[in-house]
Amino acid sequence: MLLLTLILFISHISFSPLAATTAAAANNLTLPGCPAKCGNLTVPYPFGIGTNSGCSIGPWFDITCNTSFNPPKAFLPPNLFSYTGIGMFHEVEVINISNEHIRVKNTVASKCYNQTGYVLQDDASGLVVQSSYFTLSELNKVFAVGCDDYAYVSPVSGIEGKNFSSGCVTICSNVQDVPVGSCSGMGCCATSLPTGLTTYLANVFTIYSHTRVWSFNKCGYTFLGEESAFTFQGASDFVDPDFVVRTAESVPVVLNWVIGREKCNYYKNTSDYYCQGNSFCLDFEGGNGGYRCSCVNGYQGNPYLPPGCYDIDECADPNTNPCNGTCTNLPGSYNCSCPHGYEGDGRRNGTGCTARNSKSPALKLSLGMGIGFMSVFIGMGWLYFSHQRRKVVKLREKFFLKNGGMLLKQQISSDEFGGVNRSNKIFTTQELEKATKNFSSSMILGRGGYGTVYKGILLDGTIVAIKKSRVMDENQIEQFINEVVILTRINHRNVVKLLGCCLETEVPLLVYECVSNGTLFHHIHVNDGLSWLSWDRRLRIAVESAGALAYLHSAASKPVIHRDVKSANILLDENMVAKISDFGASRLIALDQTQVTTMVQGTIGYLDPEYFHTSQLTDKSDVYSFGVVLLELLTSKKPLCMDRSQAERNLAAYFLVSLRSNNLFQILDPRVVREGSLEQLEAIASLVKRCLNMNGYDRPTMKEVAIELEGLRKLTKQPWVNQHGNEDVSTRVYEGEHSDLYNPSINPYMDSMEASSLYSSDQIHSLYPVNDPR
Ligand SMILES: *[C@@H]1O[C@H](CO)[C@@H](O)[C@H](O)[C@H]1NC(C)=O
Ligand SMILES: *[C@@H]1O[C@H](CO)[C@@H](O)[C@H](O)[C@H]1NC(C)=O
Ligand SMILES: *[C@@H]1O[C@H](CO)[C@@H](O)[C@H](O)[C@H]1NC(C)=O
Ligand SMILES: *[C@@H]1O[C@H](CO)[C@@H](O)[C@H](O)[C@H]1NC(C)=O
Ligand SMILES: *[C@@H]1O[C@H](CO)[C@@H](O)[C@H](O)[C@H]1NC(C)=O
Ligand SMILES: *[C@@H]1O[C@H](CO)[C@@H](O)[C@H](O)[C@H]1NC(C)=O
Ligand SMILES: *[C@@H]1O[C@H](CO)[C@@H](O)[C@H](O)[C@H]1NC(C)=O
Ligand SMILES: *[C@@H]1O[C@H](CO)[C@@H](O)[C@H](O)[C@H]1NC(C)=O
Ligand SMILES: *[C@@H]1O[C@H](CO)[C@@H](O)[C@H](O)[C@H]1NC(C)=O
Ligand SMILES: *[C@@H]1O[C@H](CO)[C@@H](O)[C@H](O)[C@H]1NC(C)=O
Repeated sequence: MLLLTLILFISHISFSPLAATTAAAANNLTLPGCPAKCGNLTVPYPFGIGTNSGCSIGPWFDITCNTSFNPPKAFLPPNLFSYTGIGMFHEVEVINISNEHIRVKNTVASKCYNQTGYVLQDDASGLVVQSSYFTLSELNKVFAVGCDDYAYVSPVSGIEGKNFSSGCVTICSNVQDVPVGSCSGMGCCATSLPTGLTTYLANVFTIYSHTRVWSFNKCGYTFLGEESAFTFQGASDFVDPDFVVRTAESVPVVLNWVIGREKCNYYKNTSDYYCQGNSFCLDFEGGNGGYRCSCVNGYQGNPYLPPGCYDIDECADPNTNPCNGTCTNLPGSYNCSCPHGYEGDGRRNGTGCTARNSKSPALKLSLGMGIGFMSVFIGMGWLYFSHQRRKVVKLREKFFLKNGGMLLKQQISSDEFGGVNRSNKIFTTQELEKATKNFSSSMILGRGGYGTVYKGILLDGTIVAIKKSRVMDENQIEQFINEVVILTRINHRNVVKLLGCCLETEVPLLVYECVSNGTLFHHIHVNDGLSWLSWDRRLRIAVESAGALAYLHSAASKPVIHRDVKSANILLDENMVAKISDFGASRLIALDQTQVTTMVQGTIGYLDPEYFHTSQLTDKSDVYSFGVVLLELLTSKKPLCMDRSQAERNLAAYFLVSLRSNNLFQILDPRVVREGSLEQLEAIASLVKRCLNMNGYDRPTMKEVAIELEGLRKLTKQPWVNQHGNEDVSTRVYEGEHSDLYNPSINPYMDSMEASSLYSSDQIHSLYPVNDPR
């Protein structure tokens, strides 16, 4: 009899409350008519699915649901966030949204070495959250895994208002010393981050290039992620080929989310106060301001959704609120009166009901048994849930692999010739002669430094560009071969694609995808009826080119230095997407070689003066040249123009002088000034200044340039930061008449824009005086 009662009791509590909470939750998640789920992710208000769908509290909280994945995947607003692997940006995938946090998919920085310490693969990881509504949570830690490694995490300057660098070192000399489960500096280390960050960039560096530990540890890893989600598996993590994928999948980055930028009192009685009935407002400490709402005790639901939190019917849920008598629900609480013959407070936190007489021993026994059963039940529940959790992790892993993870791609391209584009084709001479009408002059698209480019129409109708070297110049043929070697290794959306070549002719012919819309140079400087390149477009072109160059600099085993970055080598396709071209002068550089001595080559006006003087080529030479391209975009002036006065002849020098004398706006193109925001232009000018630093060492890396530009570009897209009074109907939905929730004047990010500056390499070296492979 007792057993039966207990079984009934268990079955009761294991089903009814579950059903009750899901029903309640479904009713209180979203605004009426708005979807609550994207695949398996529940998206509660103030978040909402859709862009400007009116389902969220504002554009920062719009979650994009991409249903072309199975199950569908959710992403944070694309104009707010970006990730970087190797010069590539990704939208940030949302894994979970809770009352205080968003968990997003992670990336892991890694570097692998061969036995003699050469870097075989090098990926950074990072996140840009361009809104003070989201900050990196204190639940995250910076981790480094490896036996000869240190993590280095810094903000993305120009975007982050804070200045910090953080890291930890992990050293071990033999595999037996590596403990499982502890990140204490042997095989794994962990450290915390300052609060309130909105960006980070993580890299992993080494001290002895793993040469002393290579037998058991070939790679070092760094990532930032939820501390409780990561368990170091000891030396088996060193040999796990899936470490990067597994960790990115299972250890999310946790972000705090808040509403607004000021404290509760600031918003109370305004239209930007979102706490509804039976809830209270909580100032968010530890981030960059803002508030959250929370239901008052005894109430539950979504405090942001009108009419607010609703009373908990405690009596309906005997599991969490056991009542041992007559249960009466009261607003915000409940009453539990003991049955006849008993006295006391029947609630769990009360005294319990006791018989008015004395307690019988049998009573005590059954109580003890009840507690025993209770613990068995809790144990079983725990087992069930942990099993369930493992199943979920496995499933995610499977989906990731099925969807062909990014990292898989990187691995493929990291082996010696794995990067070869399999669609590359060897063309015959006849084919190409036919395609170009026998290299007719009517088909000439342009004449580059190293040859002539023809338009070609292949038999299948594909339009291609065919590059033909000038006849029989040993030097140029070498450059052609060079270009083939480099381009076959590269597959990037913003690098012109090599479709194949023809080696039968006396001069090799290269066949490219046709990029039809001319060069950036042409668009900026030659006014033959082309429409004005808007500032927005200019920035996008800058971001795309920078991303491609960053990719080249960090690609696979041998980075590529372009050596001739200029606006004339940035092609635009029909959608005005930028494609870097002309790799005739480029060099492959082994990663350990930070520089090589070469014959100085490049284009005057773009040429890095340091390289010019020392003949030492580094990736920073491209950064300089790219700085000049940015200047062209800002000023619409040519880099070198003999028609200008002596002082203004060289654009880079003219710019630096103007900046020093506070005359920045005199040199910028007035139309650019009209279209861009002050903060943005100043931030880009400051970035250009750093790119043009005489000392290559002090220039930012291409990766940093790319991230910073991407961040600044996305800044323009915040419709409420529109300073020109253009009315964008689609965004007005969110703007109350007196709304200053999105007012740029109280945006702390904007204030800090100018103050921030790049961390210098000196900082790294003062931290860790070692042979930094950068
Ligand atoms: C939330 O759900 C509960 C239970 O289903 C319901 O009584 C209440 O009215 C709902 N609240 C709102 C705001 O929809
Ligand atoms: C996602 O939901 C589907 C059903 O919609 C379920 O089969 C699957 O297990 C869930 N996946 C995860 C990772 O939760
Ligand atoms: C959804 O994802 C696919 C594959 O990544 C992509 O091609 C497509 O553009 C995405 N759709 C939207 C609406 O973002
Ligand atoms: C996801 O968030 C919900 C709250 O919205 C929480 O109950 C759940 O445990 C979270 N899931 C994971 C896997 O963290
Ligand atoms: C490591 O790589 C470098 C550069 O590719 C090569 O010269 C060296 O021989 C390699 N070492 C080993 C042990 O494979
Ligand atoms: C908000 O308005 C109410 C009445 O309109 C007033 O009593 C209250 O003091 C105001 N609170 C604040 C913080 O201004
Ligand atoms: C709870 O109910 C009992 C019996 O109805 C009543 O005497 C008592 O005052 C109630 N207590 C509260 C806090 O309402
Ligand atoms: C028990 O909890 C209720 C709310 O759940 C509270 O109102 C009451 O004061 C508590 N009683 C005691 C004795 O702590
Ligand atoms: C519940 O009430 C019964 C009598 O009805 C009593 O024997 C038992 O001890 C009470 N349990 C608790 C937890 O108060
Ligand atoms: C950041 O720190 C560096 C070195 O400590 C310093 O040169 C730079 O001015 C600082 N930047 C800001 C924004 O405080």
